[in-house]
Amino acid sequence: MEVKLQNLKNTILKELAEIKDSQLLADLKNKYLGRKGELNEILKALKDLSDLEKPRIGKLANEIKQELAEVFAQAESAFNPNKQTNFNFDASLPGTKKEIGHLNPSTIVQYEIEEAFLAMGFAVYDGPQLESDYYNFTALNIPADHPARDTQDTFWLEGDNLLRTHTSNLQVRMLEKYGAPFRGIFPGRVFRYESTDASHDHTFYQLEGLMVDKNINIGNLIATMRTLLSSVFKREVDVRLRPGFFPFVEPAFEMDIKCLVCGGQGCSVCKQSGWVELMPCGMVHPKVLEAGGLDPKVYSGFAFGLGLTRMAMMKYRIDDIRLLQSGDLRFLKQF
Ligand code: DAH
Repeated sequence: MEVKLQNLKNTILKELAEIKDSQLLADLKNKYLGRKGELNEILKALKDLSDLEKPRIGKLANEIKQELAEVFAQAESAFNPNKQTNFNFDASLPGTKKEIGHLNPSTIVQYEIEEAFLAMGFAVYDGPQLESDYYNFTALNIPADHPARDTQDTFWLEGDNLLRTHTSNLQVRMLEKYGAPFRGIFPGRVFRYESTDASHDHTFYQLEGLMVDKNINIGNLIATMRTLLSSVFKREVDVRLRPGFFPFVEPAFEMDIKCLVCGGQGCSVCKQSGWVELMPCGMVHPKVLEAGGLDPKVYSGFAFGLGLTRMAMMKYRIDDIRLLQSGDLRFLKQF
């Protein structure tokens, strides 16, 4: 029986080597390995063997059967390379597409603004969102009883701590740390304790800028803002400058842009005025320079606080601020 098995194997291998197409191959496989094939006929006789021979021959028979199955599978895939078998991996099939995440529109705009400022020699800094009363207010010439504190509804924490209400909290921190000359922007998250509507959220993003050196003047401020706006919006944007008031800049300005959502017609984003307050700015107040350890007789500078969230809304014509942090994929997938 052992000899029969070996002979069968040799015959099969010999015939297989001469096969020219897949149909003949299938026929051959059926003839020898099929249910009624010759191999099975031989195996049927196993039961008649002595108990001593049965395990040895049985093992050999199985090995031969398996070996032949593999040889046939290889031959099949050689005739038909696109057919998936256990022994054949087709690397040319398209893979399953992995979904990748999307940047939030505010982040996209943030990166663009960073690029524009990096090109102008500014560096990008980060700082604490959990802040002390000192850096958020006092160091910025906003003393405890100053009415300007009322304009910023604050999330107070224990002690004299708070969630920063603006990125201006980094102005004095940066001057203390790096001194002058200084050129930096600080994008980041800020918090206001206020009720939400289409244009207000309790959490949003600002981008603060600060430049301090000898002989910095309003001309430097305006030129920097112009360069920024045209690089972000990729076109000329209508702007207007109004006098403003912020205790940490003197003089202070409000830079508005014509609402890009409605084109100046009036909508919920611009509160029907056609204009959107985009960028308060001004010349750094001498007291702030002093708090940062600089002599205001030697140094001057400008600062601005850009509403990053609002800028993203303008750029992408988003008419409800709450969408930005909704986590709604139907919204986020559009960017
Ligand atoms: N921190 C102010 C706010 O959140 C915005 C601001 C105004 C920043 C004037 C400035 C500035 O740097 O010069 O309302």
